[in-house]
Order: sequence, then C-alpha cells, then structure tokens
Amino acid sequence: MFNWGIIGLGKIAHKFVEDLQKVPDARLYAVASRDLERSQDFSLLYNAEKPFGSYEEIVTCQELDAVYIATPHTGHFENSIMCLEHNIPVLCEKPLGMNAEQVHKMVSLARFQETFLMEAMWTRFLPTIKKVLELIDSGIIGEVRTLKADFGFAAERDPRSRVFNQGLGGGSLLDVGIYPVFLSLLLFGRPKSIRAAASIGPTNVDEDCAMILKFQGQKLAMLHSSIITNTKTEAVIYGEKGHIHIHPRWHELSSVSYELNNGQSERFDFEYHCRGFSYEIQEAMDCIKGGRFQSDKMSHDFSLMLMKVLDDIRLQANIFYPLSDHFTDKEIATKANKFSQN
Ligand SMILES: NC(=O)c1ccc[n+]([C@@H]2O[C@H](COP(=O)([O-])OP(=O)(O)OC[C@H]3O[C@@H](n4cnc5c(N)ncnc54)[C@H](OP(=O)(O)O)[C@@H]3O)[C@@H](O)[C@H]2O)c1
Repeated sequence: MFNWGIIGLGKIAHKFVEDLQKVPDARLYAVASRDLERSQDFSLLYNAEKPFGSYEEIVTCQELDAVYIATPHTGHFENSIMCLEHNIPVLCEKPLGMNAEQVHKMVSLARFQETFLMEAMWTRFLPTIKKVLELIDSGIIGEVRTLKADFGFAAERDPRSRVFNQGLGGGSLLDVGIYPVFLSLLLFGRPKSIRAAASIGPTNVDEDCAMILKFQGQKLAMLHSSIITNTKTEAVIYGEKGHIHIHPRWHELSSVSYELNNGQSERFDFEYHCRGFSYEIQEAMDCIKGGRFQSDKMSHDFSLMLMKVLDDIRLQANIFYPLSDHFTDKEIATKANKFSQN
C-alpha cells in the first residue's frame, strides 16, 4: 500500500480523502493538525493509523510515502520545506507558494533533496483537459486565437474566513483566478504582456480580478476571478474554424463540446467515479513509484511560470500580502511604470 499523510485538516482535506479512498493501493496513513483532538476525530472518520497533534510530528513517521499539504496558501511554503527537508514527497495545494521567490526555493530544495514535489493543480489531470488538448492538436477548430475563462463564486463576506483573510493569502486571484491563468499558460505558454485590475475589498483582498494576457503569435486570454459573484465558471477556446467549450464548472468534473463555423458540433461526457482528485493522486503516486521528482504534466517549471505570472498580475493590480511579500518598493514602482507606459 502507498501511505499518504495530510497536513491541515480543513475542508479540502475531507474531499481529498474521499477520493483517495477510491485510488487502488492507496491509503490514508497519518494526519497532522494543530489540534490533536481534530486529528484523532479525522483519523477515526477515515481510518488513518496515526493522528498527530502538530505538523512537525508527521515528518517523524517513517512509513509515509507522500504528504498532501492542505493548509491555507500562507502555510504551503513552510509545510512543504519541512517535508522536503525530511525527504518526504510532497503534493501541495495551489498556489504552491505565496510568490515566485517561495516557489523557487521549494523547487530548488526538491531538486537538491531529489524528492518529489508537485502543485496539486487537479484540473490538469481531468479527462476534460485531456480531451481539449487532443481536440486542439487535431486542428479541428483551426488555429487557436483566444481563451475566455472565469471562476467566481459568491462567498459570504466574512472577514474571519480564509478567502477574505489577507493574512492567510485570501482573495480571488490566488484562490480561484489561478485556474483560468493556469489554463491560459497551458494553452499558450509564457505571456509576453499582462494587463490586470482588481477591486480590493474592505479586508484588503481582491474580491474581483480582471486580466488580459497577450502571448506569442497574437494569442489573447481574457480572464476573470471573483469571490463575491457567482460567475458562469466556464472556459471557451476560440479558433479560426470554431470553438471548444469546457462547460461549467470547467475547473472540476464537467463536459466538453465543440462547435465549428460550418455548424458541425459534438459533445463529450465522461463517466466519473470520484470528485476529481483521484487523477492527481494517481499521477503523484505513479511519479513517486517511478522514482521521479516531478510530473511532466505539472512540472516545477510550469509552477514557477504560473507563480511568476500571478506575481506580475498582483503587482499590476495592487494585490499585496505584506506578511509574505518580498517585492521591493523599486519592483512595485518599476512594474507600475512599465504597465502604465504600455
Ligand atoms: N483543489 C481544490 O479544489 C481546492 C479547493 C479548496 C481549497 N483548496 C486549497 O486548499 C488550501 C486549504 O483550503 P481549505 O478550503 O481546505 O481551507 P480551510 O478549510 O480553512 O482549512 C485549512 C486548514 O489549514 C490549517 N491551518 C493552518 N494554519 C492555519 C491558520 N493560521 N488559520 C486557519 N487554518 C490553518 C487548519 O487545519 P488544522 O486546524 O487541522 O491544523 C485548517 O483547517 C488552500 O490553499 C486552497 O487554495 C483547493
């Protein structure tokens, strides 16, 4: 059996374990919470062997094959570094860090320790994304020109909740905007220029963020994220001969269709037996069993590029996290100048 551990037993940890139970040869072995009682309750619920009452204790567990990090964004760096230092493979929730500097250090340590590290960008491993890439490769919609994608949900404006808490990395961009940004980079690579604007709410986090990214070959992505409005949460990829639609909510288990300019259309539905996390879990296990330190599909370089782009969007849209940011005043001023000149 492949023994998983989890650090941080909040909402996503429960969903992750429900899918972990559906992955052959995988089991939840150890869990770590800041609160021993929560850890024990979680262990009882999901049959985990070892409940720990602190994050530090889990790295003493010799039987672990990998740890899934499910703490708020601001914990990802420290928690991942701790596991990597003990040569424990890491699957870490998105965003991998709070900024590119953190992600760079995490990736460097994973490489130095020769220990697996992957950002848990589960969408990358879903059958919908596989189908979209196949359709684009087939040339059926011709040359791809633009992407329109969004992800928004109307959360209760509770300053105590993670998504509205600046100290925990709250805000729409890092929580959900990361998905449409991820998709644009998957389709078009590194952007050549970025325009972004955000509406900053009373708790100092971005409640809405609008982005336009321009890529090589005149390709464009128009992206939006929100934590105060229920947006359609769909993705449409426009080519010269037609378009591909990833149906709402596009980042999770959904369906795909295409419609060509000549009226031809087709829809693809998939049979799902899980919430969607099993695919990333399987990918991480396959890589680790194969002695690999990263996944080809969600590589270290890709996560670095993603984080750098998120940094650029943040600098331009004035989204800051004073407790974790390392941006210098000069960097902020240079970015602001550069973008206002463009
Ligand atoms: N892939 C997805 O679809 C998806 C969906 C939702 C969230 N996420 C990601 O998963 C991460 C966790 O999100 P979540 O919604 O599960 O958050 P959550 O419900 O607030 O849980 C986060 C957990 O982290 C731990 N924690 C450590 N330091 C904390 C602090 N200072 N304040 C609060 N909690 C702290 C707590 O666990 P203990 O008390 O047990 O230590 C808490 O239960 C985020 O980075 C988010 O981006 C991914």
